[in-house]
Amino acid sequence: MNTLRSACHGGQIPSRLGRGRASRRRHGRRILRLSCCRIIALTRDQYFAIERRVDALERKRPLDLDVVAAAIGRIDNRELFGARLGPAVRYSQRVEADVAGLSIHTLLPHSPNDHIGRFLEVWVPDESGHGVAQEVLLDHIGLPISPPADPDHVPPHNRVAGVFGRLSRHAYTIVSMAYHSIGAMNERLAIGAYGQMARICKEIGADEIADALFTPMRADESLHLGYYRTYAMQLRAILAGWQLAAVRALIVHTWAPVGAGAKEDRGPFGEVILALEEDPENPSIAAVIQDIAQDLLAKDGETLPPFVHDQLRNCVALAREAA
Ligand SMILES: [Fe+2]
Ligand SMILES: [Fe+2]
Repeated sequence: MNTLRSACHGGQIPSRLGRGRASRRRHGRRILRLSCCRIIALTRDQYFAIERRVDALERKRPLDLDVVAAAIGRIDNRELFGARLGPAVRYSQRVEADVAGLSIHTLLPHSPNDHIGRFLEVWVPDESGHGVAQEVLLDHIGLPISPPADPDHVPPHNRVAGVFGRLSRHAYTIVSMAYHSIGAMNERLAIGAYGQMARICKEIGADEIADALFTPMRADESLHLGYYRTYAMQLRAILAGWQLAAVRALIVHTWAPVGAGAKEDRGPFGEVILALEEDPENPSIAAVIQDIAQDLLAKDGETLPPFVHDQLRNCVALAREAA
């Protein structure tokens, strides 16, 4: 079988795993323990499935902030815009501004030239640009902007996961699967939100903002999703049953919508669901995110519990309580 190293190949056509094994034998156990965490064996097809997604990301154009600023300046009815979309834009501006600083290097050590490094090279500026654009939008419609999170803060669970990943190749693969699966679920949430926000813009006559901001952001999120989901799908194919079970248990029991993990953020996220969904107690976005989790994480023939729906409904209940 052609086996290729994915997570750390230094930008070269990756070497065969067999050569890597020989090298590790030559250099002894100590080198193995220091370096093995970054080696994930993929077949050639699996490797190039991810390569195509990264390549598509690298070719795309970033959001044009000048075009966005000009469109924002031409919003006629700021009050109506704020009333319909204010909570959603406030939530997404905060998440976009903070998400790129989540200490990914600590969580999942990587090279700048491997797939993860190349993905982040596009993804971080994309998400930061989405945050800046919505900051300008909030300022224009007279709504407050969230203070930026400390970019140097590393959440304790990321630190712990990073330590385990450095010690063990099996743990590194589990962390990578969890990171890419959660990334896919969160990107799908963003796609749904920006799609709905574009629709509402058109309903209230703000077509230009839909076309300059929300639709292009949705397209970016779609390419991010393509990368995360493809990477996780390839990992799923090589994970041992116990590794997949560990990731499944982690996500089913701890997943929360991006930016709504803390109790104080859950009500504001519920407000977004109230603003964007026709039936907030049964939000349509829950089913599509659950489908991604099902494809990536479920054991063959089993159905995951409806944890996405439960999480979203809890946020809506908190928003209704706070109203
Ligand atoms: Fe984004
Ligand atoms: Fe994204």
